[in-house]
Amino acid sequence: MGPNSGYKGKGLSIIEISEESQDWQHLWPVVELLNQQQNVQVQAGHFLSSHVLAALVNDRPVGFLRLVVQRIGENEGRPPVLFQGRTLFEAKIIAFGVLPKERNRGVGRALQQKAMRRAHELNCCQVRSRSDYGNDANYHLKISLGFGIQPSLENDSVYFVKAIPTADSPDSTRGEPA
Ligand SMILES: CC(C)(COP(=O)(O)OP(=O)(O)OC[C@H]1O[C@@H](n2cnc3c(N)ncnc32)[C@H](O)[C@@H]1OP(=O)(O)O)[C@@H](O)C(=O)NCCC(=O)NCCS
Repeated sequence: MGPNSGYKGKGLSIIEISEESQDWQHLWPVVELLNQQQNVQVQAGHFLSSHVLAALVNDRPVGFLRLVVQRIGENEGRPPVLFQGRTLFEAKIIAFGVLPKERNRGVGRALQQKAMRRAHELNCCQVRSRSDYGNDANYHLKISLGFGIQPSLENDSVYFVKAIPTADSPDSTRGEPA
């Protein structure tokens, strides 16, 4: 990204939106254009809560990210992972996209950074996402943000995982209820 080509400080904002809000209706065509309706809408019993972030440039939606809070290992049928006697939770990013004409201007990075801050607030100890091989922009973004890489044979993809310092509270490892 060149020094003057990004949106940093120039009208870009990242907000969390609910399905009932007008912002959701405005964002929906962006989700459809990127063909991620399923990722934005899917529900599962192990999702403790779900959070959709919208990227707005001067109030115009240009991208989105959805994260869900889940107990680490639950979707793989694995037992809880404990730390100091407490169950650990993670923020899993299951939808992420930016309009093609708005890419390479820092919108995706801003969404990921906000997701990490939100994960911290939600007392998750890591952020995780899956990406197909060959998604060079996404790989660049995740690796440059400090994510570790776990290749998976299961679905010809990799998992990106980044540890998040948990909030300094007695309930610091508890996910927020849905
Ligand atoms: C992945 C995606 C969300 C990134 O959004 P974005 O707004 O372009 O992200 P940013 O501008 O913040 O960062 C992109 C980075 O990738 C780099 N990049 C772009 N194309 C690249 C390529 N072909 N190879 C390597 N790096 C590349 C950019 O230079 C930039 O890095 P920099 O900040 O160090 O300059 C966007 O490409 C997208 O919507 N892709 C389609 C949907 C998708 O793949 N979603 C993720 C998996 S579900």
